[in-house]
Amino acid sequence: MTGSDATEAAPLPPLARIPPAIACVADYAAYARERMTPAAWAYLEGGAADELTVADNRAAFDRLKLRNRVLADLSSGHSRLDLFGVAHEYPILLAPVARQALAHPDGERASLLAAAAMRAGMVVSAEADVAVDALAREADTPLWSQLYLSTDRDRALAQLGRAEAAGCRALVVTVDAPVNGPRNREQRLGQPLPAGPGARPAPQVAPGESLFSNPLITAAPTWQDIAWLRTQTGMPLLLKGVTDPADATRALAHGVDGLIVSNHGGRVLDTQLATIDALPAIVAAVDGRVPVLLDGGIRRGTDVFKALALGARAVLVGRPYVHALAAAGAPGVAHVLHLLRVELEMTMAVCGCATLADIEASHVVGAAHA
Ligand code: FNR
Ligand code: LAC
Repeated sequence: MTGSDATEAAPLPPLARIPPAIACVADYAAYARERMTPAAWAYLEGGAADELTVADNRAAFDRLKLRNRVLADLSSGHSRLDLFGVAHEYPILLAPVARQALAHPDGERASLLAAAAMRAGMVVSAEADVAVDALAREADTPLWSQLYLSTDRDRALAQLGRAEAAGCRALVVTVDAPVNGPRNREQRLGQPLPAGPGARPAPQVAPGESLFSNPLITAAPTWQDIAWLRTQTGMPLLLKGVTDPADATRALAHGVDGLIVSNHGGRVLDTQLATIDALPAIVAAVDGRVPVLLDGGIRRGTDVFKALALGARAVLVGRPYVHALAAAGAPGVAHVLHLLRVELEMTMAVCGCATLADIEASHVVGAAHA
């Protein structure tokens, strides 16, 4: 799927081999847990501190109720959209998730194969086990490259070069994690992950020292680094991890082309606002000037619909596709994309929406006020 030509699809993986007991994306979690080491599972599943935001990302979707609409003409319906000049078949992308070899030996390669087969976009993590330019040679689907900025501009330029070599359609700068949150689940388990590309270890702060003297903090990026990056590339530039409307406005003033409302899947700051609750204020601040995307807690097509109703252009999904990757490799990831897409389209049909443009805020009851 390149440009506006979305007709060339890779052959579908054999979805028929997926056990019937897997009826929705959440059903993959138990299978994944059986197949992963305790350390890898704690890393994948865990969140910051008490994991309240992890839970609330989901609970906030469940609190919102839908209003159906009857007897609409659905005869030429579809869920297509355009993102940064590229046609997407449906508004669901794979979120950047680091170190996918912890879930399956084929790691990011399997996720990419699935995304390509299902014609979905994929955001490749800065900490992927396979670099984005190597990955891009394996299959053709819209790839976006995620990076973490620091004051090390040579490193940023090297990452930018790889994203350009890969033909990426957008750059995603994750800005919500100057440090990782306290990953108490992993700490309690006390089993280190195997060495990997993680350029962002949890900060080691010796007793008596302040976090603020730690190199992770002293090298953390600022708005000046966003302004600089903007001068270095013509690629669409998105900031991931914005939940404050004033930050959204400032991002636009820095020439950013899109925002991803995200709390990093509840992995950084516990008790942070659920993303669906943060969305309306960001959408109001942006006022249609750039696309706003959302991730965190998307497990059902109804969640995707609710995010779109409240102004998101598309959503990203994180843990569920990695569960499916661990359980079933590329066919599992493809199945997750398929399930979410079909559930979204079912919701659209019952809510009288032939296209994404027909999805309105009034379909959702109980949303946070902007
Ligand atoms: C992430 N996430 C993430 N985000 C990012 O910008 N760069 C990264 O390398 C990673 N790595 C990563 C690893 C793991 C194991 C998880 C679970 C998450 C966050 C990710 O992109 C996304 O924001 C959340 O996963 C979305 O929430 P759900 O769908 O997992 O609830
Ligand atoms: C995480 C980092 C890699 O969430 O973003 O684990």
